[in-house]
Amino acid sequence: MGMLINKFKIHNIEIEVVESKKAMGLRAAEMIAERMLAKNDIVLGLSTGSTPLPVYAALIAFYTKKMISFKDVKTFNLDEYYPIEPSNKQSYQYAMKRDLFSQIDIPPENIHFPDCLISDSPVKASRNYEHLIAKSGGIDLLLGGIGQNAHIGFNEPPAQSDSRTRLIELTEETRKINSRFFATIEEVPQYAITMGLGTILDSKEIILCASGTAKSETIYKALWEKPNPNVPATYLQNHQNCRFILERAAAGRILD
Ligand code: GLP
Repeated sequence: MGMLINKFKIHNIEIEVVESKKAMGLRAAEMIAERMLAKNDIVLGLSTGSTPLPVYAALIAFYTKKMISFKDVKTFNLDEYYPIEPSNKQSYQYAMKRDLFSQIDIPPENIHFPDCLISDSPVKASRNYEHLIAKSGGIDLLLGGIGQNAHIGFNEPPAQSDSRTRLIELTEETRKINSRFFATIEEVPQYAITMGLGTILDSKEIILCASGTAKSETIYKALWEKPNPNVPATYLQNHQNCRFILERAAAGRILD
């Protein structure tokens, strides 16, 4: 494949470096599509943020060309702000519908998010989410992004490797970074419900995508620091089937 620049392994993690965000999206989408063709009722873990957008664009293109169908696919998103209405344009449910779900044939009942209405008890919502994931047979393939502080989902540092779905308080740094989607920083919710690192690590396979120079140092630390709670993504080093697909700029530090 011409767009692949480099492929190597660090610890257990397969690293693929590609030349652009578009190539990153295409590569991840090809892998997801391959797994979908092998298992039509695959259970996917999905993330939001800007990083997975090229992946979703490529998946939509494959669907439009009738190469894949989401009719039997189940999805569990990693996280959602709390409290938030699904109709709120800043909610992850709204974003996923806009950027993927409204453009493919996934039945609405197959789409899952933690219950994040103000009336939902976060403890019950978290327990219920774990239960639903287990009842679906666990996550087959999880597509993750990474925060600048190496959070996965919303597992802000310090995060334990055996943590499960729970309510977390967002750090000021994350709220500041995410305020680009809101009118003011005050509007960024202070809390979120996120799958735990333990929930994420239970996935049978993990693909983590990263793009841009802002993630270069984060990726370096995630791969080269010993697994520790202050750099949550370091725990991916313990996973047996994990791959990083990196746009060239995000791989800058590890290629130095
Ligand atoms: C957010 C999300 C994460 C996402 C990360 C990176 O806060 N909760 O799931 O991976 O930040 O976002 P981006 O891809 O926009 O850099």
